[in-house]
Amino acid sequence: THKVIYDTDPGVDDAMALFFLHYHPDIELIGITTCHGNAPVEITTRNALYLKERFGIEAPVARGAAGPVTGDDAHHAAVVHGDNGLGEVEIPADIKAQAIAAPAHRFIIETVRKHPGEITLLAVGRMTNLALALREDPEIAGLVRQVVVMGGAFGYRGHLGNVTPAAEANIHGDPHAADEMFAASWPITVIGLDVTHEVLMPQDYLRRLGEEAGEVGRFIWDITRFYENFYLNKGLAGISVHDASAAIYLVAPDLFETRPGPVRVVCEGLAFGQTIQRPAGIGFPPNDWDGRPDHAVCIAVKAQPLLDLYRETL
Ligand code: BDR
Ligand code: CA
Repeated sequence: THKVIYDTDPGVDDAMALFFLHYHPDIELIGITTCHGNAPVEITTRNALYLKERFGIEAPVARGAAGPVTGDDAHHAAVVHGDNGLGEVEIPADIKAQAIAAPAHRFIIETVRKHPGEITLLAVGRMTNLALALREDPEIAGLVRQVVVMGGAFGYRGHLGNVTPAAEANIHGDPHAADEMFAASWPITVIGLDVTHEVLMPQDYLRRLGEEAGEVGRFIWDITRFYENFYLNKGLAGISVHDASAAIYLVAPDLFETRPGPVRVVCEGLAFGQTIQRPAGIGFPPNDWDGRPDHAVCIAVKAQPLLDLYRETL
């Protein structure tokens, strides 16, 4: 089994990934940490608490960073996820579940130290909480089992960024934090737009989920109406399955092909937020990448078995 801390900014596709983590028998959800991103952190935290309460998810929720590590303003994605982060589906005002007292980055540190070598960090929002945890306790890098990230656009398959032509939202929203995360010597697997733009749920898939997966299926149908509108208007054949693809990587890594090499993030200028991977083990260009560790970047995915696994799990 995988003991998972889910670092997230719910978010329509974040909610869909959370359901996979909750229902998959090989995943033990140890905690949910929230971050600024698709919506302000007050809203993403409220959404996490609502999902926990409504769907009986036991994991504690720890609230995280409100903005990037630089102190710059946070950027949100209301056009994709709605102002309330969950596709404008009405969320009741009286949520009883509460966040724990510890902030997200400290919960991450304490939990990793409590289970050395066992925790998987699954990060599908801005990387701010991970960077703050590393700053406060760099040794956690040697104590996690793995880090799996949804973020970035590396250009391996011709897909561009989704905030700018160069940058994907989770990285663009805090590139300095992402760069600190990639500099650390912990084993990271990156699931970026290179693959998630090839994992699409067409409307008939979502309708079937709505019919066959009970209350959770109906909820997914409801929250995806707004999100689907965004993607169909962009000319895609369905909604992009970003965060759930990263969650599925945990239990089905064979569905992905990866490429090793160090990763850096552009933190200024026109390409702000761009992710670049240097191939591993080559002599040219010369290694001026500060001895950075190799990480695995996904370059291909088997989309249909992934979609089948998601549906079967729910
Ligand atoms: C990522 O940005 C957010 O909108 C999604 O939840 C996903 O994590 C895709 O770029
Ligand atoms: Ca997300």
